[in-house]
Amino acid sequence: MQRARVQLKSGTGIASAYAAAIAEAARFVGATAPNPPVGCAILDADGEILTVAAHHRAGAPHAEALALLQCEAAGSLSRAATAVITLEPCNHVGRTRPCTDALLASPIRDVWIGAGDPNPRVTGGGAARLCEAGLAVQVAPPDSPEGRDCLALIAPFTSFIRGLRPWITVKQALDAEGSMIPPAGARTFTAPLSLHLAHRLRRATDAIITGMGTVLADAPHFTVRHVADHADRRRIIAVLDRTGALPAAWRQEAQARGFRVATAPDLGGLMQLLLDEGVLWAMVEGGPRLLDILARASLWDDWLTIRHRPEGEDLVGIRARTAITPLRLVEGMPAAMTVEREAVCSPAS
Ligand SMILES: NC(=O)c1ccc[n+]([C@@H]2O[C@H](COP(=O)([O-])OP(=O)(O)OC[C@H]3O[C@@H](n4cnc5c(N)ncnc54)[C@H](OP(=O)(O)O)[C@@H]3O)[C@@H](O)[C@H]2O)c1
Repeated sequence: MQRARVQLKSGTGIASAYAAAIAEAARFVGATAPNPPVGCAILDADGEILTVAAHHRAGAPHAEALALLQCEAAGSLSRAATAVITLEPCNHVGRTRPCTDALLASPIRDVWIGAGDPNPRVTGGGAARLCEAGLAVQVAPPDSPEGRDCLALIAPFTSFIRGLRPWITVKQALDAEGSMIPPAGARTFTAPLSLHLAHRLRRATDAIITGMGTVLADAPHFTVRHVADHADRRRIIAVLDRTGALPAAWRQEAQARGFRVATAPDLGGLMQLLLDEGVLWAMVEGGPRLLDILARASLWDDWLTIRHRPEGEDLVGIRARTAITPLRLVEGMPAAMTVEREAVCSPAS
């Protein structure tokens, strides 16, 4: 991409603007599917942040459009000089007008972009259009802190939009003996902090993948209870069910709790139904047989292990395929993780 004139140097307002835009976008991870989460900060010519906005859900304004609207409402639009956006602005008409139009119609002349648009079907990128119109456009290097976080934000969307499959995060709780099976009469055995973490992860994801063994043993609710959920969120529960034996009563109860319940007889069918439903990020909450099947098929992107210790805090570990994992942005996740491949570009490439 062509590099053009830059008014603000990275390190003045840009680093904090990226941090603010990423944090705002991260608040809506799990609410935007099938769209990606996106954040935008608008700065004045001195690098002061005028406003920060995010895309809230499909059909709502894009982050750039909302940020410009907020500036207008606050009477600061004439001071807007720089936009810092976590994802390349769209240049096509979808449910909303192209964000490039909104930026070009504003006083903004400097644009910093955290990650390029991974959508292979969208031609004529927003960054190129802004460059051609004479704006200064910078894309964060993928191995910079901003680039990594912005790529992590859209890692599930990248996997989805390239038609691969949803991003798959496995959550596995182990007791002190290394067993996944809860004591008789219980559905869980982990500490309250681990439960909060699991519910934050549920909030961030669009679907839960489970197995028939877990449904029959636990009749799980799969609701977000320990943290506040997104408003009006309708998640999918996808059950691996080879024989069509899913109990009708459990399905009805799950639907009454606001879930859409779907079944598939094999992993291929399961992934396809999740793609068809617009699921970007799915979390696996299944028993040892389902986890073994997924591990053998190498069908996961990151693997969260919670080891319960009756004395002391649970130990949480993350094994990730690449450092570009959306788990980085879920509050309470351990910063350290075992990364199998140091990726400096998009995870699905
Ligand atoms: N600690 C944790 O993190 C955790 C999380 C969830 C659940 N659990 C516990 O796990 C236990 C249930 O575990 P589970 O292993 O019995 O059940 P599961 O892993 O939840 O389900 C097993 C799944 O594997 C399918 N399956 C089995 N063999 C297969 C094959 N060869 N090919 C394709 N699919 C196959 C089954 O389908 P069919 O039934 O149709 O054959 C079923 O959907 C419960 O006690 C639950 O409390 C623990």
